[in-house]
Amino acid sequence: MKSLAKGKITLGLVISITLGVVIVVGMVYGPWRNVKLGTGFLLLIFGVGGIGLYKTLRKRIELFRLVEQQRDELEIKVSKRTKELEEAKRDLEKRVDERTKELQQKYTELSRSQTATLYMVEDLNRQSKEIKDAQDALIRSEKLAAIGQLASSVAHELRNPLGVMKNALYYFNMVGFGKDNADIKENLDIMSKEIENSDKIITDLLDFSRIKKPALRLENINSIVKEVLNRIERRSDIEIITELEDTLPDIKVDALHIQQVFYNVAQNAIQSMDKGGRLKIETNFGDNFIEISFADTGSGISKENLEKIFNPLFSTKAKGTGLGLSVCASLIEGHGGTIDVQSKVGRGTVFTVKLLVKH
Ligand SMILES: Nc1ncnc2c1ncn2[C@@H]1O[C@H](COP(=O)(O)OP(=O)(O)O)[C@@H](O)[C@H]1O
Ligand SMILES: [Mg+2]
Repeated sequence: MKSLAKGKITLGLVISITLGVVIVVGMVYGPWRNVKLGTGFLLLIFGVGGIGLYKTLRKRIELFRLVEQQRDELEIKVSKRTKELEEAKRDLEKRVDERTKELQQKYTELSRSQTATLYMVEDLNRQSKEIKDAQDALIRSEKLAAIGQLASSVAHELRNPLGVMKNALYYFNMVGFGKDNADIKENLDIMSKEIENSDKIITDLLDFSRIKKPALRLENINSIVKEVLNRIERRSDIEIITELEDTLPDIKVDALHIQQVFYNVAQNAIQSMDKGGRLKIETNFGDNFIEISFADTGSGISKENLEKIFNPLFSTKAKGTGLGLSVCASLIEGHGGTIDVQSKVGRGTVFTVKLLVKH
């Protein structure tokens, strides 16, 4: 850079000196002899300045042209690049759009198939529950039928000897046996009571073995509840309250069957309240069914036992037969209804029977 400037200065000096020499020679010997020395110097200075100015201007112009040219080239390049970038951007946007659409479609398909799967799972669950319920009902009814046959034959066998014992007691009474002996009289009374109890059990067993198809008639469920309440043995430490829906429509049921169900459930509730408590019986009218609930404040049922209470012969009572609830379930199933239970140990139990209004 420095040497370039130096060269320029040298060139300028050489040109100036040459010009100076030419002008001085011209003024001394040549055509400009008449021109004064001052004017000559001025001309020299103008001449040198003019040449320098011209050169500078020319360089500037060239530089300017170069810059212009480079700027044009750059602009062309930039606009080309911009176009390329815009094209790339458009291409990218298009691809993103396409991909988004694809993804949306896939997502819709996925959520559709997810919903379908959910429906299917729900359906399967419902079906397997139905199958299990039907299986349970079948097993229960088969067991009940077998137990029923056994119960019936045992009951008939026992009825005769019991009858003989009853006659013997009657005879003792008639002849005044033990009339004057308190011990004998007490034992005869005990015998008579136990014969009565046994007779009751036999009647229950025979009732149980005689479960028939329901004979349907239009009945009022509230009236059936009231009849059952009249039959139930009351206890002073147990309060029984009812909340019966006035507007219940009459429905087609076998009144004797439904009575038996309500009686068993209420009896169980009372038996679960050793230390007293409260039994609340409610009737309600749903969409197309009538709901009857029995809520007690008794012992409650453990989770483990809840699964077994509808099985024939399951009982936690010393003198229980374990037949009550299995018979209830069969009778309610015979009506196309349901019987459910909810319970908390130490808090109480609610049995809910649902009967369809039309079937
Ligand atoms: N309301 C209730 N509260 C507590 N336990 C109950 C109730 N109802 C039924 N259970 C339980 O269910 C069992 C089966 O009842 P059930 O079939 O009527 O037979 P049983 O009354 O002869 O025992 C009962 O032994 C008892 O353990
Ligand atoms: Mg019972």
